[in-house]
Amino acid sequence: MPSLTITGTTRVFGTLAHPIDHVRVPSVMNPLYEKHGIDAVMVPIHVLPEDLEDAVRGMRANRSLGGLCVTVPHKVTIAAFCEEVGASGRRVGAVNAVRFDAERRMHGDNFDGQGYVAGMRAGGFDFAGKHVLQLGAGGAGMAIAFAVAEAGAASLSIANRTLARGEELAHRVHKAFPGCITRGVAADADPAGYDVAINTTSLGLHAGDPLPVDVGRLDPATVVSEIIMIPEETALLKAARARGHAVHYGRPMLEEQIKLIAAFIGTPFPSFEACSAGTSG
Ligand SMILES: NC(=O)c1ccc[n+]([C@@H]2O[C@H](COP(=O)([O-])OP(=O)(O)OC[C@H]3O[C@@H](n4cnc5c(N)ncnc54)[C@H](OP(=O)(O)O)[C@@H]3O)[C@@H](O)[C@H]2O)c1
Repeated sequence: MPSLTITGTTRVFGTLAHPIDHVRVPSVMNPLYEKHGIDAVMVPIHVLPEDLEDAVRGMRANRSLGGLCVTVPHKVTIAAFCEEVGASGRRVGAVNAVRFDAERRMHGDNFDGQGYVAGMRAGGFDFAGKHVLQLGAGGAGMAIAFAVAEAGAASLSIANRTLARGEELAHRVHKAFPGCITRGVAADADPAGYDVAINTTSLGLHAGDPLPVDVGRLDPATVVSEIIMIPEETALLKAARARGHAVHYGRPMLEEQIKLIAAFIGTPFPSFEACSAGTSG
Protein backbone atom coordinates (compact mmCIF):
# COMPACT_ATOMS: atom_id res chain seq x y z
CA MET A 1 0.00 0.00 0.00
CA PRO A 2 1.51 3.40 -0.97
CA SER A 3 2.87 5.23 2.06
CA LEU A 4 5.53 7.80 2.85
CA THR A 5 5.69 6.64 6.47
CA ILE A 6 9.29 6.56 7.64
CA THR A 7 10.08 3.66 9.95
CA GLY A 8 13.18 2.12 11.49
CA THR A 9 13.69 0.03 8.35
CA THR A 10 13.45 2.87 5.83
CA ARG A 11 16.51 3.06 3.58
CA VAL A 12 17.84 6.59 3.28
CA PHE A 13 19.44 7.93 0.12
CA GLY A 14 20.90 11.39 -0.27
CA THR A 15 21.75 14.05 -2.81
CA LEU A 16 24.99 15.72 -1.75
CA ALA A 17 25.48 19.27 -2.98
CA HIS A 18 26.38 22.86 -2.27
CA PRO A 19 24.43 24.98 -2.98
CA ILE A 20 21.44 22.72 -2.44
CA ASP A 21 18.45 24.78 -3.63
CA HIS A 22 18.60 23.60 -7.26
CA VAL A 23 18.64 19.90 -6.39
CA ARG A 24 15.59 18.08 -7.74
CA VAL A 25 16.34 14.38 -7.29
CA PRO A 26 14.48 14.15 -3.93
CA SER A 27 11.36 15.64 -5.49
CA VAL A 28 11.59 13.08 -8.29
CA MET A 29 12.37 10.02 -6.20
CA ASN A 30 10.11 10.45 -3.17
CA PRO A 31 6.84 10.50 -5.15
CA LEU A 32 8.03 7.32 -6.88
CA TYR A 33 8.76 5.64 -3.54
CA GLU A 34 5.34 6.72 -2.29
CA LYS A 35 3.51 5.66 -5.43
CA HIS A 36 5.07 2.20 -5.39
CA GLY A 37 5.03 1.67 -1.61
CA ILE A 38 8.84 1.48 -1.40
CA ASP A 39 10.35 1.82 2.08
CA ALA A 40 12.93 4.44 1.12
CA VAL A 41 13.44 8.19 1.26
CA MET A 42 15.76 10.53 -0.65
CA VAL A 43 16.92 13.59 1.27
CA PRO A 44 19.05 16.62 0.43
CA ILE A 45 22.46 16.61 2.12
CA HIS A 46 23.84 20.13 2.15
CA VAL A 47 27.57 20.09 2.86
CA LEU A 48 30.10 22.89 2.39
CA PRO A 49 33.35 21.87 0.68
CA GLU A 50 35.38 22.44 3.85
CA ASP A 51 33.05 20.16 5.83
CA LEU A 52 33.14 17.20 3.45
CA GLU A 53 35.54 15.12 5.52
CA ASP A 54 33.38 15.44 8.64
CA ALA A 55 30.27 14.71 6.58
CA VAL A 56 31.85 11.56 5.11
CA ARG A 57 32.72 10.32 8.61
CA GLY A 58 29.13 10.87 9.72
CA MET A 59 27.65 9.25 6.61
CA ARG A 60 29.83 6.16 7.02
CA ALA A 61 28.53 5.83 10.57
CA ASN A 62 24.90 6.20 9.47
CA ARG A 63 23.84 2.63 8.68
CA SER A 64 20.46 3.72 7.36
CA LEU A 65 22.19 5.53 4.52
CA GLY A 66 22.45 3.41 1.35
CA GLY A 67 24.00 5.78 -1.15
CA LEU A 68 24.37 9.22 -2.64
CA CYS A 69 23.87 11.16 -5.82
CA VAL A 70 26.82 13.56 -5.82
CA THR A 71 26.85 16.91 -7.54
CA VAL A 72 28.75 20.21 -7.57
CA PRO A 73 31.21 20.87 -5.89
CA HIS A 74 31.89 17.44 -4.38
CA LYS A 75 32.36 15.20 -7.44
CA VAL A 76 36.16 15.33 -7.46
CA THR A 77 36.83 15.59 -3.73
CA ILE A 78 34.56 12.77 -2.61
CA ALA A 79 36.32 10.38 -5.02
CA ALA A 80 39.38 10.57 -2.75
CA PHE A 81 37.34 9.16 0.16
CA CYS A 82 36.07 6.16 -1.81
CA GLU A 83 37.72 2.80 -1.14
CA GLU A 84 36.81 1.82 -4.69
CA VAL A 85 36.21 3.96 -7.76
CA GLY A 86 34.84 2.41 -10.97
CA ALA A 87 36.64 2.63 -14.31
CA SER A 88 34.65 5.61 -15.54
CA GLY A 89 35.16 7.53 -12.30
CA ARG A 90 38.90 6.81 -12.40
CA ARG A 91 39.25 8.02 -16.00
CA VAL A 92 37.31 11.20 -15.36
CA GLY A 93 38.73 11.79 -11.87
CA ALA A 94 35.28 12.48 -10.43
CA VAL A 95 32.29 10.48 -9.21
CA ASN A 96 28.60 11.39 -9.25
CA ALA A 97 27.31 8.35 -7.36
CA VAL A 98 28.47 6.69 -4.15
CA ARG A 99 27.12 3.61 -2.42
CA PHE A 100 27.95 2.31 1.06
CA ASP A 101 28.46 -1.43 1.51
CA ALA A 102 27.77 -3.45 4.67
CA GLU A 103 31.22 -2.57 6.06
CA ARG A 104 30.49 1.11 5.31
CA ARG A 105 33.13 1.22 2.61
CA MET A 106 32.39 3.73 -0.14
CA HIS A 107 32.17 2.74 -3.82
CA GLY A 108 32.00 5.57 -6.33
CA ASP A 109 31.61 5.91 -10.08
CA ASN A 110 30.74 8.44 -12.77
CA PHE A 111 27.76 7.89 -15.07
CA ASP A 112 27.85 11.01 -17.30
CA GLY A 113 29.35 9.16 -20.26
CA GLN A 114 27.38 5.94 -19.93
CA GLY A 115 24.21 7.99 -19.48
CA TYR A 116 24.92 9.88 -22.68
CA VAL A 117 25.60 6.74 -24.72
CA ALA A 118 22.52 5.03 -23.26
CA GLY A 119 20.43 8.10 -24.11
CA MET A 120 21.63 7.98 -27.71
CA ARG A 121 20.95 4.25 -27.84
CA ALA A 122 17.43 4.86 -26.51
CA GLY A 123 17.02 7.33 -29.39
CA GLY A 124 18.14 4.68 -31.90
CA PHE A 125 21.79 5.73 -32.35
CA ASP A 126 24.59 3.17 -31.96
CA PHE A 127 28.20 4.42 -31.82
CA ALA A 128 29.74 1.14 -33.03
CA GLY A 129 31.90 1.83 -36.11
CA LYS A 130 30.92 5.51 -36.26
CA HIS A 131 33.11 8.54 -36.99
CA VAL A 132 32.45 11.05 -34.25
CA LEU A 133 33.10 14.78 -33.94
CA GLN A 134 32.93 15.93 -30.34
CA LEU A 135 32.79 19.66 -29.65
CA GLY A 136 34.23 20.48 -26.22
CA ALA A 137 36.51 18.76 -23.71
CA GLY A 138 35.19 19.95 -20.33
CA GLY A 139 33.94 17.79 -17.46
CA ALA A 140 30.97 16.26 -19.29
CA GLY A 141 32.93 16.07 -22.54
CA MET A 142 35.68 14.08 -20.87
CA ALA A 143 33.26 11.42 -19.65
CA ILE A 144 31.47 11.32 -23.00
CA ALA A 145 34.68 10.92 -25.02
CA PHE A 146 35.68 7.79 -23.07
CA ALA A 147 32.15 6.37 -23.25
CA VAL A 148 31.87 6.96 -27.01
CA ALA A 149 35.19 5.17 -27.58
CA GLU A 150 34.14 2.37 -25.24
CA ALA A 151 30.89 2.04 -27.21
CA GLY A 152 32.95 1.14 -30.28
CA ALA A 153 33.33 4.38 -32.25
CA ALA A 154 35.79 3.95 -35.14
CA SER A 155 37.19 7.45 -34.71
CA LEU A 156 36.78 10.44 -32.43
CA SER A 157 37.88 14.00 -33.21
CA ILE A 158 37.72 16.40 -30.28
CA ALA A 159 37.36 20.04 -31.29
CA ASN A 160 37.91 22.30 -28.30
CA ARG A 161 38.45 26.04 -27.89
CA THR A 162 41.54 25.26 -25.83
CA LEU A 163 43.28 22.97 -28.31
CA ALA A 164 45.73 21.49 -25.79
CA ARG A 165 42.88 20.32 -23.57
CA GLY A 166 41.22 18.53 -26.49
CA GLU A 167 44.53 17.00 -27.57
CA GLU A 168 45.28 15.74 -24.09
CA LEU A 169 41.84 14.18 -23.77
CA ALA A 170 42.20 12.54 -27.19
CA HIS A 171 45.53 11.09 -26.13
CA ARG A 172 44.08 9.65 -22.91
CA VAL A 173 41.06 8.21 -24.70
CA HIS A 174 43.28 6.52 -27.27
CA LYS A 175 45.42 5.02 -24.52
CA ALA A 176 42.32 3.55 -22.86
CA PHE A 177 40.68 2.46 -26.13
CA PRO A 178 43.37 1.95 -28.79
CA GLY A 179 40.78 0.66 -31.28
CA CYS A 180 39.33 4.16 -31.59
CA ILE A 181 41.39 6.60 -33.66
CA THR A 182 41.37 9.84 -31.68
CA ARG A 183 42.75 13.31 -32.25
CA GLY A 184 42.36 16.80 -30.91
CA VAL A 185 41.51 19.39 -33.56
CA ALA A 186 41.02 23.15 -33.66
CA ALA A 187 37.56 24.39 -32.70
CA ASP A 188 37.02 25.61 -36.28
CA ALA A 189 38.40 22.50 -37.99
CA ASP A 190 36.51 21.09 -40.99
CA PRO A 191 33.40 19.35 -39.54
CA ALA A 192 32.65 17.39 -42.75
CA GLY A 193 32.93 13.60 -42.92
CA TYR A 194 31.41 12.60 -39.59
CA ASP A 195 28.44 10.37 -38.74
CA VAL A 196 27.61 12.40 -35.67
CA ALA A 197 28.56 15.78 -34.16
CA ILE A 198 28.08 16.10 -30.38
CA ASN A 199 27.99 19.43 -28.60
CA THR A 200 29.49 19.07 -25.11
CA THR A 201 30.47 22.74 -24.82
CA SER A 202 28.37 25.17 -22.82
CA LEU A 203 27.69 27.16 -26.02
CA GLY A 204 23.92 27.21 -26.42
CA LEU A 205 23.03 27.71 -22.77
CA HIS A 206 22.56 31.43 -23.32
CA ALA A 207 20.64 33.31 -25.99
CA GLY A 208 23.08 34.87 -28.44
CA ASP A 209 25.84 32.27 -27.94
CA PRO A 210 27.64 31.50 -31.19
CA LEU A 211 27.00 28.03 -32.61
CA PRO A 212 29.67 25.52 -31.51
CA VAL A 213 30.03 24.33 -35.12
CA ASP A 214 29.27 25.70 -38.57
CA VAL A 215 26.19 23.61 -39.39
CA GLY A 216 26.42 24.56 -43.06
CA ARG A 217 29.70 22.62 -43.34
CA LEU A 218 28.35 19.37 -41.88
CA ASP A 219 27.50 16.50 -44.24
CA PRO A 220 23.72 16.30 -44.75
CA ALA A 221 23.68 12.83 -43.15
CA THR A 222 25.52 13.91 -39.98
CA VAL A 223 23.41 13.38 -36.87
CA VAL A 224 23.57 16.38 -34.51
CA SER A 225 23.50 15.64 -30.79
CA GLU A 226 23.26 18.04 -27.86
CA ILE A 227 23.77 17.60 -24.11
CA ILE A 228 22.39 20.96 -23.02
CA MET A 229 18.91 20.49 -21.57
CA ILE A 230 17.81 24.08 -21.06
CA PRO A 231 16.82 25.38 -23.51
CA GLU A 232 15.44 22.09 -24.78
CA GLU A 233 16.08 23.12 -28.37
CA THR A 234 19.36 24.99 -28.56
CA ALA A 235 20.24 27.22 -31.50
CA LEU A 236 22.45 24.38 -32.76
CA LEU A 237 19.59 21.87 -32.83
CA LYS A 238 17.29 24.42 -34.39
CA ALA A 239 19.76 25.20 -37.16
CA ALA A 240 20.49 21.50 -37.70
CA ARG A 241 16.81 20.61 -37.90
CA ALA A 242 16.21 23.45 -40.35
CA ARG A 243 18.85 21.91 -42.63
CA GLY A 244 17.27 18.46 -42.39
CA HIS A 245 19.71 16.80 -39.96
CA ALA A 246 18.52 14.14 -37.55
CA VAL A 247 18.90 15.57 -34.03
CA HIS A 248 19.13 14.22 -30.47
CA TYR A 249 18.20 16.32 -27.44
CA GLY A 250 20.03 16.69 -24.12
CA ARG A 251 17.42 15.28 -21.77
CA PRO A 252 17.84 11.50 -22.42
CA MET A 253 21.42 11.69 -21.10
CA LEU A 254 20.08 12.72 -17.70
CA GLU A 255 17.17 10.30 -17.77
CA GLU A 256 19.40 7.32 -18.52
CA GLN A 257 21.95 8.51 -16.00
CA ILE A 258 19.40 8.62 -13.20
CA LYS A 259 18.49 5.00 -13.95
CA LEU A 260 22.15 3.97 -13.91
CA ILE A 261 22.88 5.86 -10.69
CA ALA A 262 19.77 4.43 -9.01
CA ALA A 263 20.88 0.90 -9.89
CA PHE A 264 24.42 1.62 -8.66
CA ILE A 265 23.50 3.10 -5.28
CA GLY A 266 20.77 0.51 -4.78
CA THR A 267 17.76 2.79 -4.65
CA PRO A 268 14.68 1.26 -6.25
CA PHE A 269 13.66 2.98 -9.48
CA PRO A 270 10.36 1.50 -10.58
CA SER A 271 9.37 3.91 -13.32
CA PHE A 272 10.66 6.93 -15.10
CA GLU A 273 7.43 8.81 -15.79
CA ALA A 274 7.75 11.19 -12.85
CA CYS A 275 11.18 12.38 -13.94
CA SER A 276 9.83 14.61 -16.68
CA ALA A 277 9.59 17.32 -14.01
CA GLY A 278 13.30 18.02 -14.40
CA THR A 279 16.37 17.27 -12.32
CA SER A 280 19.73 18.87 -11.93
CA GLY A 281 21.39 16.75 -9.31
N1 LIG B 1 22.38 16.41 -20.23
C1 LIG B 1 23.07 16.19 -19.13
O1 LIG B 1 22.77 15.27 -18.36
C2 LIG B 1 24.28 17.05 -18.82
C3 LIG B 1 25.22 16.61 -17.86
C4 LIG B 1 26.36 17.41 -17.61
C5 LIG B 1 26.51 18.62 -18.28
N2 LIG B 1 25.57 19.02 -19.19
C6 LIG B 1 25.77 20.28 -19.94
O2 LIG B 1 27.03 20.21 -20.57
C7 LIG B 1 27.59 21.50 -20.74
C8 LIG B 1 29.05 21.47 -20.35
O3 LIG B 1 29.18 21.14 -18.97
P1 LIG B 1 30.61 20.84 -18.31
O4 LIG B 1 30.35 20.49 -16.90
O5 LIG B 1 31.38 19.88 -19.18
O6 LIG B 1 31.30 22.29 -18.39
P2 LIG B 1 32.86 22.65 -18.35
O7 LIG B 1 33.64 21.61 -17.65
O8 LIG B 1 32.92 24.05 -17.87
O9 LIG B 1 33.31 22.63 -19.91
C9 LIG B 1 32.84 23.60 -20.82
C10 LIG B 1 33.29 23.28 -22.24
O10 LIG B 1 32.73 24.27 -23.11
C11 LIG B 1 33.81 25.00 -23.75
N3 LIG B 1 33.43 26.41 -23.82
C12 LIG B 1 32.96 27.17 -22.81
N4 LIG B 1 32.72 28.42 -23.24
C13 LIG B 1 33.09 28.45 -24.55
C14 LIG B 1 33.10 29.47 -25.54
N5 LIG B 1 32.69 30.71 -25.27
N6 LIG B 1 33.53 29.14 -26.78
C15 LIG B 1 33.93 27.88 -27.07
N7 LIG B 1 33.96 26.88 -26.16
C16 LIG B 1 33.54 27.17 -24.91
C17 LIG B 1 35.03 24.76 -22.89
O11 LIG B 1 36.19 24.94 -23.67
P3 LIG B 1 37.63 25.27 -22.98
O12 LIG B 1 38.24 23.93 -22.62
O13 LIG B 1 38.39 25.97 -24.04
O14 LIG B 1 37.35 26.13 -21.77
C18 LIG B 1 34.80 23.31 -22.46
O15 LIG B 1 35.13 22.42 -23.50
C19 LIG B 1 26.76 22.42 -19.86
O16 LIG B 1 25.96 23.19 -20.73
C20 LIG B 1 25.88 21.51 -19.03
O17 LIG B 1 24.61 22.06 -18.83
C21 LIG B 1 24.49 18.25 -19.49
